[in-house]
Amino acid sequence: MNTLEFIPKPFSNLLEKANFTWQTPSNIALIKYWGKSNLQLPKNASISFTLNNCHTITTIYFTKNRGVEGANFNLFFEGKKKEDFKPKIAQFFTRIQQYCPYILWYDMEIHSKNSFPHSSGIASSASGFSAISMCLMSLEQELQTIKLSKEYINKKASFIARLGSGSASRSIEGGLVVWGNHLEIEGSSDLFGVQFPYKVHSIFKDYQDTILLVDKEEKQVSSTVGHNLMMNHPFAIQRFAQANENLSKLSKILQNGDVKSFINLVESEALTLHGMMLTSNPYFILMKPNTLEIINKIWRYRQENNSNICFTLDAGANVHILHPKKEKEKVNQFINNDLAQFCQKKQYICDSVGFGAKKVVSIKE
Ligand code: PMV
Repeated sequence: MNTLEFIPKPFSNLLEKANFTWQTPSNIALIKYWGKSNLQLPKNASISFTLNNCHTITTIYFTKNRGVEGANFNLFFEGKKKEDFKPKIAQFFTRIQQYCPYILWYDMEIHSKNSFPHSSGIASSASGFSAISMCLMSLEQELQTIKLSKEYINKKASFIARLGSGSASRSIEGGLVVWGNHLEIEGSSDLFGVQFPYKVHSIFKDYQDTILLVDKEEKQVSSTVGHNLMMNHPFAIQRFAQANENLSKLSKILQNGDVKSFINLVESEALTLHGMMLTSNPYFILMKPNTLEIINKIWRYRQENNSNICFTLDAGANVHILHPKKEKEKVNQFINNDLAQFCQKKQYICDSVGFGAKKVVSIKE
C-alpha cells in the first residue's frame, strides 16, 4: 500500500495567516461499509451517492505559531465552542500529522455548520471531516511552490478524510464514489475514494434521496462500536465477500439502468447492515417501529403504483427514500400524505445526487 505519495515536498512559502472555507456534502451508501481494520481500512468496498443539500460548511483560520508539540486548535460548531467534538478531531490530527506537517505550524480555529438540523440523526462525520480536509489541502497548496493538480488535491483530501471517518473518503467527489479496493473497479483503493469510473446510466445521474427523520436522537450505537462488532462476528467473512459481489452487480446495474435490480440490491444491502447488528454480540435493533411502518408503506406503494421507489438505511432508524427524478412529484405527495406522520415533527429532507466539494472562500496574508 503506497502512502508515500501523500507525504508532501518541503515547503517554502510560509504564510502568516490564512483562512479557507469549503462546503462538502454528506453521502448515502448503496453498498455499505461496515467493518474495518487498522487504520481505517475497509473490510469491503463500498459505493455511495454524493448528496447535494445535506452538507457541512467549514472555515479554518490558520495563524502561524512558533511550532508546537501537537496540533493546537479550537472548535466552534454553529457559533458555539464545542469541547465534546474535540477528542475525535485531535485523534484525526495525530493520524494525519505525517501527511500534513503544517498543522503543527499554525494555530487553527475551526468554524463549522451543517445545512441539516444538528440533532437529525444524520451523521455529520462524513461531511465534517471532508470539509476540514479540503481546508487543509487549500493551505497545503498555498505553502507549496508547485501547483497541485485537482486530481491530487481530491485524492489526498479523501485519503486524509478517511483517517477521520471512513465514509468521509466518499464525500469529496460528486456523483457516485467507490471506496475500497475492488478487482472490477479500476483505480479503486482502500486508501481513498474514487469517482465510479464507468459510464453511468442517465436515470442514476439525478437520483433523488428523501431522508425521513424517524429518530433525531444521537445514534444509539456509534459507528466505531458498530465496526468493532464486525471483528468477531459469526457472519463477517460471508458479509465482506457478499458486499464485494454486490458491488460487482451494482456496477453493471449503474451502467445499464436496470432500476428493478437496483431496488432489490439496495434494499437488501440496507437490511443486511441491520441484520449484522441484530446478529452481533452485543446485539442491537437500530430500527424503530416507525421505520418498519415506512418500509411496509413503501413496499405497498411500489406495488400498487408500479413505482421505482426504494429505501436504504444508515446505522440508525431514519429512512432514505431513493427514486428516479421523474417520480419526484408523486413520491413527494406520497411522503406528505402517508409517511410524514411517522417522522418526528413530520420532518423530512429532500435531497438529490450532488457534485462534491465546493470552495467558498480563500483569504491569505
Ligand atoms: O464512516 P463511519 O465510520 O461513520 O461508518 C459509516 C457506516 C455506514 O454509514 C453505516 C455505512 C456507509 O458505508 O456509509
